[in-house]
Amino acid sequence: MKTFSKLLPLSSAILLSLAAPAIAADAEAFSILHLQRAPVAADVDALAGQVTALKADAISIDGVRRAADQIDPLRRLAEQAGYRYRFVAGAPAADGSVEGRVLLTRTPVQLESGGEEPGRAYLRLADGRHVVALYVDEAADPAALQRLVDASRLGAPALLLGTAAAGAAGWNAVPALEAVGQGFGTASIRDVRLRDAGGTRLPAALVTLPYAAQDTAERPWMNTTLTADARAALLLAQMSEDEKFQMLRSYFGLGKDGGPLPEGAVGSAGFVPGVPRLGIPAQQSADAGVGVTNPGGIRPGDFATAMPSGPSTASTWNRDIAYAGGATMGREAWQQRFNILLSGSVNLQRDPRNGRNFEYAGEDPLLAGAMVGALIRGVQSQHVISSMKHYALNDMETRRNFHDVRIGEKAMHESDLLAFEIALEAGRPGVAMCSYNKINGTYGCENGYLMNQVLKQEWKFPGFVMSDWGGVHSGSKAALAGLDQQSAGEVFDAAVYFDQPLRMAVAAGVVPVARRDDMVLRILRTMFLHGNFDRPPQHQPIDVEAGYATAQRTVEEGSVLLRNEGGLLPLAEDVQRIVVIGGHADKGVIGGGGSSMVGITAKGGNAVPGVKPTTWPGPVMFHPSSPLDALRAARPQARIDYVDGSNPAAAAKAAAQADVAIVFATQWAAESVDLPDMQLPDGQDALISAVAKANARTVVVLETNGPVRLPWLQQVPALMQAWYPGIRGGEGIAALLTGQANPSGRLPVSWVTDESQLPRPHVPGLGFTPKETFNDIFDFDIEGANVGYKWLAAKSLTPAFAFGHGLSYTTFGYDNLQVSVDGARLVASVDIRNTGTRAGAEVAQLYLRLPQGSTTPVRLIGFEKVLLQPGEQRRVRIEAEPKTLAHYDAQARQWTIDGGSYEVYLGRTAADPVQTVPVQLQSQTLR
Ligand code: BGC
Repeated sequence: MKTFSKLLPLSSAILLSLAAPAIAADAEAFSILHLQRAPVAADVDALAGQVTALKADAISIDGVRRAADQIDPLRRLAEQAGYRYRFVAGAPAADGSVEGRVLLTRTPVQLESGGEEPGRAYLRLADGRHVVALYVDEAADPAALQRLVDASRLGAPALLLGTAAAGAAGWNAVPALEAVGQGFGTASIRDVRLRDAGGTRLPAALVTLPYAAQDTAERPWMNTTLTADARAALLLAQMSEDEKFQMLRSYFGLGKDGGPLPEGAVGSAGFVPGVPRLGIPAQQSADAGVGVTNPGGIRPGDFATAMPSGPSTASTWNRDIAYAGGATMGREAWQQRFNILLSGSVNLQRDPRNGRNFEYAGEDPLLAGAMVGALIRGVQSQHVISSMKHYALNDMETRRNFHDVRIGEKAMHESDLLAFEIALEAGRPGVAMCSYNKINGTYGCENGYLMNQVLKQEWKFPGFVMSDWGGVHSGSKAALAGLDQQSAGEVFDAAVYFDQPLRMAVAAGVVPVARRDDMVLRILRTMFLHGNFDRPPQHQPIDVEAGYATAQRTVEEGSVLLRNEGGLLPLAEDVQRIVVIGGHADKGVIGGGGSSMVGITAKGGNAVPGVKPTTWPGPVMFHPSSPLDALRAARPQARIDYVDGSNPAAAAKAAAQADVAIVFATQWAAESVDLPDMQLPDGQDALISAVAKANARTVVVLETNGPVRLPWLQQVPALMQAWYPGIRGGEGIAALLTGQANPSGRLPVSWVTDESQLPRPHVPGLGFTPKETFNDIFDFDIEGANVGYKWLAAKSLTPAFAFGHGLSYTTFGYDNLQVSVDGARLVASVDIRNTGTRAGAEVAQLYLRLPQGSTTPVRLIGFEKVLLQPGEQRRVRIEAEPKTLAHYDAQARQWTIDGGSYEVYLGRTAADPVQTVPVQLQSQTLR
């Protein structure tokens, strides 16, 4: 395998004496080619050969200016010379152009944080044997950058590009590179004579930085300059049979049958004991995707931030928010002694009745994958491994351990699997959790097609597959199909298949020893990669205010203003008398049930205890964040009363006396059970109708799992979907209603009018007390890849609110959409202007209309969110995800773009194009 460069012969290098440690002449070295200015497109071909010959590990190119609609020619250079391309952008100018630095890396990137996000960019490069961390200083705040370096370097040699100041302790200046380094020896620098197409010299230098392996004689796997794979291999060689098998099964971290916790378990979903002899830490895993849970208060004194639900985060269409939410959860997990967080839920919403939609990220593979990927990256920035789950097609809960999902390979790749694939690329989760259900007749956790073929071979997933709790049905069959670790089998499965049965299967040669070792290696390399060995969790108090701030930002950007007739919202300053009705809005906001429920926050436990069901998958949780209190705080001058809504007539009477009535309607949903239908429960429709009749200025705030029927919609001028808004739900909703925050959420799902618009209008056997029996088959071939808005478009159905819909208190104009295509790369740019009087954020949604006769009529292919001041205009660049231009060829196992005429449009929603441009795509296969 290729290693980083060897040291250059000294004769061809100018040696510079620096205050850097002396390093032996045969040390490894990292070489970086530095171009002081960016070549133009015409020079790329001429340069490709010259650059390739230099064999630098990385190339750094300063001063790259990318126009909004431009596909950077350096991408072509990267492709021709065999490098990966990364653009580290500064803030975009009003014309959408961006100044930045391009980084090309020949060596694989093991881990990265931030990608193109300014100020958080770092890469851990690993060539198979060695690791170098590379940082780009686009951060306005050097202290934040230093914190990032401290947290992520993990002892590897590090290079910080973009600053020549060796200011901070331990950094040495690296001349010719405008960089400082840590852990490197004296740099050698060679001027390089690159010539552009016209023969003019392009100033460049090749800088070679030597570094030595650390002296970790006793435990060589603790050498942090080695790659995770190399460290895992060194460690594996020292492990006994028993120690290896011990890694392949976890215990239920809450104990069996209410008994004591397994020795050493912190207390949560899963626990794998460590191996003190070798310094292997225990694996401590906690649920889940909306915060760190503390089931039944098993860890006295621990609490966490209850984040808004998955669809709320998805509704922000803002990757930074998802990342920040993930980082908050990851940090709090680490501070509560967990090194694995069972987050990263990315199953697609195919049906609003699925009881677990509140954990997911909507119906579109690109949006869900991008947002959950960003969340995973956030979690893992905190030295906590994140999962992605539930792999795959566990899109309904009814008899989830038994039901069989039927769907063709092409359709699954273009829908649910695409969401996973994009989340994997964007987030690089260390764990994939296989699901309970069967897929085309085979359980998720023994599905060789999904685990071996797709995940590990096609997607090259280097991490490990862990089962869902109770998802394992065999030992050798599951292991050979790609399952690496059985979760809590002693409690949830019929047997601990990955203990004795697997040992016997390995002894008998049914499961090769090499496969068993592969399972262990995958677990160990994941633990090394994410710092489980080098940055073990520490029990610390969480930063409550920081968590609240992220939670509130998410509610404010993630709640969707669905309707606002006559500009009833934001509430005018002169509104004197308000009545708040129902939804326990005097106490808090509802949350979803099951393993993901965050029951204990800094504000205590359940604000409304006793609502049924109080046992699994309950209790019904109300986070103590009262919208009523928050509204009163926001409008101290107004008289704001509360009526509980149990009596519609009394509520209507109170509404009649108020200037404005605000009804809070809730719908509880939970893991393990689907909703029987799309109706708001407990007579809330009647309550809303009665109130709306009594007061024409009625606002409805929904706190639901997802879309519900809205029989009263025409009587209600203002409607806001707040999903399950988490521990700052009250404050966030109040900020939006009063105009302190301007709504910018956009639906990540189609709001169908009712069940008749769904692919399966009637599913027998849903709900807590079904009257009919379910036949244990979900036929997803009905809609195939046409989930949500694609189904509606194919069937010419008009939903109540389309995918992507969401109003603002300001207005936006679009102009001048342009689209450039280069191979499989498509970039659009458009002028967006804030034509109103308030600052607000708009989501530029880019869709592809496929040619007549295509199975799928329309697809979201890219999106970007932009914040604009009143009157401000920006050119916004939106890059399409190439796979959304293609179809999956199940025979060839690859993505292919069909050549032909397409249309690209910027839409306010999937169903509302505002600017359309025809494009020609060339027929091609994606690499
Ligand atoms: C859920 C998973 C969860 C696991 C551990 C299962 O029932 O499906 O999402 O992570 O339990 O609590």
